Amino acid sequence: MKVLITGIDGYSGWPLALHLLARGHDVAGVDSLVTRKRVKEVGSWSATPIPPLPRRLAAVQEVLGKEIRFYRGDLSDWALVRHVLETERPESIVHLAEQRSAPYSMIDVHHAVATQVENLTGTLHLLFAMKEVVPEAHLVKMGTMGEYGTPNTDIPEGFFETEFRGRKDTLPFPRQAGSWYHWSKVFDSGDVMFASKIFRLRATDVMQGVIYGIRTPEITDDRLLTRFDFDETWGTALNRFIAQAVLGLPLTPYGKGEQKRGFIALEDSMQSLRLAVEHPAQPGEYRVFNQFDAAYSVNELAERVARVAADLGLHPTIDHPPDPRVEAEQHYYNPIHEHLPRLGYQRTRELDDVIREIFHDLIRYRRRLAARQYVLAPTVNWRLPDSRPLLGARNAAGAAPAPAPAEPTGPSSANSVA
Ligand SMILES: NC(=O)c1ccc[n+]([C@@H]2O[C@H](COP(=O)([O-])OP(=O)(O)OC[C@H]3O[C@@H](n4cnc5c(N)ncnc54)[C@H](O)[C@@H]3O)[C@@H](O)[C@H]2O)c1
Repeated sequence: MKVLITGIDGYSGWPLALHLLARGHDVAGVDSLVTRKRVKEVGSWSATPIPPLPRRLAAVQEVLGKEIRFYRGDLSDWALVRHVLETERPESIVHLAEQRSAPYSMIDVHHAVATQVENLTGTLHLLFAMKEVVPEAHLVKMGTMGEYGTPNTDIPEGFFETEFRGRKDTLPFPRQAGSWYHWSKVFDSGDVMFASKIFRLRATDVMQGVIYGIRTPEITDDRLLTRFDFDETWGTALNRFIAQAVLGLPLTPYGKGEQKRGFIALEDSMQSLRLAVEHPAQPGEYRVFNQFDAAYSVNELAERVARVAADLGLHPTIDHPPDPRVEAEQHYYNPIHEHLPRLGYQRTRELDDVIREIFHDLIRYRRRLAARQYVLAPTVNWRLPDSRPLLGARNAAGAAPAPAPAEPTGPSSANSVA
């Protein structure tokens, strides 16, 4: 199948491209490379060194013997979006190209506006270009489980039956997002649902759980590694905990640490997206998949990381700094996930095994973590209208970090955590 991946240079876009190529699909991609730029903006970098895109594409050619056609550009550019669709005429579009950091969207008004304007504009451009150029194509749009928030009821897959004053209907399940970023995903969902109705587009809206992991079977060479963010703005809690353990720092679940989220391994997220691509929605159909395997609390993640760390001779403590976010720190959480298993989805990876795998890679790249250690502490605060001044002053002493040393691109010389 001809698949276009928007956001192909990103954490999930890159391994998805490799996964689809390995299964005989034809892959093209578009990316503005803005995540690379924004991670630098907050003073960080990927723990894994990511080669410039031309070198990544050459490595795919050399290692896998496959070609990816690439378009550099921003989905906010209508002419570019039309051009890519007219040139490629994809049968399936996996749309991952959005600003995806909740803390980044909470820095100040400008970051909130950029997140919402860019995310909604890109999605609307794709929807209109699909209607005009490839109305038969299938859109697989990456949303997030965070759209639902944490209601005190089970969470269905997009829709639920309800009865009010004696009348019944099947309606979209209420969304209660927890950041300007998550609200951009909610608004996107409304736009995709509406476009599938009026333009009769095929659409799958993926409520993606938090993805964890660093490797997929296709990543057989360091040049094919995907990015791995560990800073407070771009890294997930699990990523930060493993980085903290490698650096000998305490693990820091925010607040009480009983915040629960749905999680899925990188390899299994790729499997799920491929299944969605290979089983398209019908014309005019808007379907929602909750895409995760299991829910864990932040405390549980920290405890599991500490257990695996102990096997590796590391003994991190666990601290609980105040929660900089506005969120329930203890709540009910039970989302349903039945659609993907019906298409043949099977979980292949267990959390502890993947944590071990991440440790092995982060220990190899320990120098890169150590050189950016100051990015781990939380500075973006949901309650402050402008968190930006805090971004430059991250170390424990409150002083601005020393100028960053040059980026080490190879693994650390010793395979040791000492
Ligand atoms: N990683 C997760 O755990 C997770 C969880 C839930 C949802 N998601 C969603 O999955 C998608 C991909 O996430 P990711 O972790 O791979 O993020 P990422 O930031 O690593 O990748 C996104 C890619 O899209 C590009 N991009 C962003 N905006 C663009 C634009 N307007 N035009 C062109 N390119 C643009 C970026 O440069 C980047 O390479 C996002 O939509 C995100 O919201 C991710």
